[in-house]
Amino acid sequence: MQPPHLLLFLFLPLFLPGMWADLDAEPQVFQLLQTSLFANVSSAEVSGMTFLGDVPIFALDPANWSINFYWLWAHQATSEGDAEKIKAQYKFFLRNMVRYVHKMAQQAQMDYPLVVQIRAGCVLYPNRTSWGFMDVGEDGRDLTAFKMELRHWEPLQQSRLAQLVSESLTSKKAITGLLEHLLLISCQSFILTLCRYGRSDLERQEAPGATVFARTPRPDQLLLVCRVTGFYPRPISVAWLRDGQEVPPGPALNTSTILPNADLTYQFRSILAVAPGDGHSYACRVSHRSLGTRSLLIPWENSSTAPTVSIAIAVLFLAAAASAGGLWWWKHRKGDEAIWETQEFCYLRTGCLSSNELPCHQLSMITSSPIP
Ligand SMILES: *[C@@H]1O[C@H](CO)[C@@H](O)[C@H](O)[C@H]1NC(C)=O
Ligand SMILES: *[C@@H]1O[C@H](CO)[C@@H](O)[C@H](O)[C@H]1NC(C)=O
Ligand SMILES: *[C@@H]1O[C@H](CO)[C@@H](O)[C@H](O)[C@H]1NC(C)=O
Ligand SMILES: *[C@@H]1O[C@H](CO)[C@@H](O)[C@H](O)[C@H]1NC(C)=O
Repeated sequence: MQPPHLLLFLFLPLFLPGMWADLDAEPQVFQLLQTSLFANVSSAEVSGMTFLGDVPIFALDPANWSINFYWLWAHQATSEGDAEKIKAQYKFFLRNMVRYVHKMAQQAQMDYPLVVQIRAGCVLYPNRTSWGFMDVGEDGRDLTAFKMELRHWEPLQQSRLAQLVSESLTSKKAITGLLEHLLLISCQSFILTLCRYGRSDLERQEAPGATVFARTPRPDQLLLVCRVTGFYPRPISVAWLRDGQEVPPGPALNTSTILPNADLTYQFRSILAVAPGDGHSYACRVSHRSLGTRSLLIPWENSSTAPTVSIAIAVLFLAAAASAGGLWWWKHRKGDEAIWETQEFCYLRTGCLSSNELPCHQLSMITSSPIP
């Protein structure tokens, strides 16, 4: 038999309609991450990957610089517009890059081996503005960054190499102009094309599976673990309910960062420390876009009084009860965003970009409405 407090949960307003629509309004990031190893004056090993948000698009084969697409649609999208021209030219760009690095190494009297990292791409905001970036690192440290609005390269360290490279790149007006075009115009249109061709994969949703179990590290402490895994996209909300009331953040509550699984889904765990036999009932509540207006509720019951119920109960959204409590919950959830978004892709020290989810719905709205 269900304890009466479970009925309460049914009336807990969990969502507001359109809540995920807010999340949709997130920026799209397309980026190239490239690492080159220069073992000596006559060698270069270049590898690279591109991502739209957290979805890999294509990789560069270090052996012969051929492009391997992760998806058929990514291949198709790259045969259109600027992307096609860039594709026809990229080996030429790479050869120039290799030659340039060797030349700079010579001028700055650098010792081999050298490792050069490049991170380049753009962010497309839902308000249709976009922003391009390109950062270069050497030996694991930031070296120089392209400041698009100022049309110059800014040294990011106090070294002769950083000065030399920044000045030299800034003086090449043809490169500055080309970069501006690539990072703004071409990059933005590539994002839109990818979203058009790859919609079903980019908008993929995987529902989370959740389990609740207990650990007893000490006789006077019980750790309730809510393990949530297999979900996509990344944003998720996990809360503990004590007698139907959400447990606020505090020392008893410990959450992991959102970690990737091998199959491009994510996992997360939330741990609540409680006193054994404290007489309260506990449940873990999981909300995710894939669940729509429902959420998972996994109760944990003290096994001394009742058998552990570990069945996930889908709680139906009740429109009538939604407004006030839903808003409250949403506000608090926003406050939690710092936790949800802490796992960042840090390519270079200052080059962290949150690997956000991929809401292409928003972008399809952009493409289908005329640009003023
Ligand atoms: C340069 O490094 C490559 C790769 O490690 C090696 O195969 C090659 O023999 C080296 N060449 C010279 C001139 O040292
Ligand atoms: C590039 O090399 C890979 C193996 O590293 C091979 O599978 C692929 O067919 C090659 N591509 C071309 C265009 O030669
Ligand atoms: C578009 O949105 C971005 C990020 O929210 C903001 O920084 C930028 O100022 C906005 N641009 C316009 C023209 O509203
Ligand atoms: C939370 O968990 C992590 C990993 O298990 C642990 O290192 C950390 O000390 C915990 N924090 C608290 C406040 O219990």
